[in-house]
Formats: sequence, structure tokens, C-alpha cells
Amino acid sequence: MAATATKVAPKSLARILMCRPTHFRVEYSINPWMNPADKVDKEKAMNQWNNLKATIEKSGAIVDVLEPTGASHLPDMVFTANAAVVRGKKAYLANFHYEERKGERHFYEKWLRSHGFETLGSVDFPFEGAGDALWAGKNQNKLFCGVGPRTDPRALSDLAENLKNENPFKVLGVRLIDPRFYHIDTCFCPLEEGLAIWFPAAFDQVAQHNMKNEIELVPVSEKDAKQFSCNAVVVGKTVILNKGADDTGKMLQKLGYTPEFVDMSEFIKSGGSAKCCTLALPM
Ligand code: ARG
Repeated sequence: MAATATKVAPKSLARILMCRPTHFRVEYSINPWMNPADKVDKEKAMNQWNNLKATIEKSGAIVDVLEPTGASHLPDMVFTANAAVVRGKKAYLANFHYEERKGERHFYEKWLRSHGFETLGSVDFPFEGAGDALWAGKNQNKLFCGVGPRTDPRALSDLAENLKNENPFKVLGVRLIDPRFYHIDTCFCPLEEGLAIWFPAAFDQVAQHNMKNEIELVPVSEKDAKQFSCNAVVVGKTVILNKGADDTGKMLQKLGYTPEFVDMSEFIKSGGSAKCCTLALPM
């Protein structure tokens, strides 16, 4: 009799929070991509979001879904990257720059708390969560924070103090200077330890210099940056990004990654793409 092989489920590579785009619309303009006259196709947006979620899951991540019940007045809540920056079981919540998004904090806080996270976060200075704060380096020992358009550099010391745990990390505030790339996750994407892709011209000279001292950086072209090629979801060796950034795709392949293209056109009408729709949570 043949021995029964025990099937071991493959270990998940990441855990990601997404919010269903039930109420997603473009009805105000808080970045240069948003034009309320350019209506979102609701059904298309839902299909694109479902496809993104399926692609993330296929790549080996677990996706948690936040249902935006009671949040019909918050059309940008699909962009969960902005909810908080998370380290271990601590979630440092966003304090949104624009009035239009301030109400989202309550819903993210509720979800994070009910899923075992300790929620922190001052409301003294604007800070826009993982949209402006990306972990990189060995054991995530570096936090790259975009400042200027949305996040106030004065928010960073409180954040560093509150997220402290047994793994020390360094916070690097870097100034964003191109209004099209108003969150750091629109122009910088850490891959594995010590390596990232970026669109250098989105940062001021000091930031460019400081970033180069911290991490190996591979540039993307302006053409690809405008396709949100840096706004990518990294799951192990898979990089999920908006369709059209073909040169970035080839470059990722050379670096040993597998690009997975998804159509994010409806979300780009709001100035967001794949990564903006996700918040990485610890496993
Ligand atoms: N319309 C949203 C805003 O302007 C898009 C947010 C994109 N999120 C991101 N993490 N880049 O706030």
C-alpha cells in the first residue's frame, strides 16, 4: 500500500488589508490626478479591485477585507495604505491632511483594534500612514517617510517613539517635490532587504542623497513612473503593478522578480494604484 503523503499547506508570504471599493468615487480633487468630471466606472472599479485581490492571493499572501459599512461619505477609503503604519502589533494611525479623508481614521482604528492591534497616533501633525511610510532594510530597520505634500516632518518623532519595540529602527524623512507623486509609495518601492525601485526626480536633492546612502536604488523612467510603476505590491518575489510599465517589468525580471500586471485605470483617476489599495500587516 502506498504511503499517504501528508500535504503541507504552503506558508503565506504576507498578510494584507484591503477595503472593498463599495463607495469608491472621485468627487473632490486633492491631488493632480483627480478630476471629479472624469467619472469612475463603478463596475469596472469593482472588477479591477477583485482582480488585484485575486492576484495578491495567487502570489501567496492572505488578504483581509474591510467592509466599509457606514462609510458611504468616504469615497477614498479603498486606499488602505493610508490607514496606518504598522510594526508588530502596534498600528500608528494616519492623521489625514485633507478634511475630506479625516473621517476614515475612525473606521481603520475600529478594524485594527478588533483584530488585535494596539492603535496609537497623535493628531497634532498630518501623517498619512503607509502611503508615506515604508519599511526597508534588514529586519525592517529603516522607515522611509515622505514629507511635504501630505505628511508633516514634525509627525515623525512621535511616530518613532510610539512604534518602538525590541527591534530598533531608523526613521528617514525625505522631501517629496513633484505634486504628481504626493505620497512616498507613488515614487519609491522597497523590494527585498537593501534594494528598492524609485523615481528620483520626485525627491529633493538632499533626500536623493540620503536615500542613496541607505539603500540600493534602481530608477524607473518618468514614463513608467506616470503609470504608477513604483506603486507596486511586493509578495515574496512577485511584484504586482499597473499595466503599461513594461520597462519596469523587464528591469524587475533582471533583478530576479516576477512582474504581474493588473489594470488599475479606475483607481488612477483618484491618484492611486495597486499598492495604495493595500496595507501590509505582520503575519
Ligand atoms: N485620492 C487619494 C488621495 O489623494 C489617493 C490616495 C492614494 N494612496 C496612496 N497611498 N498613495 O488621498
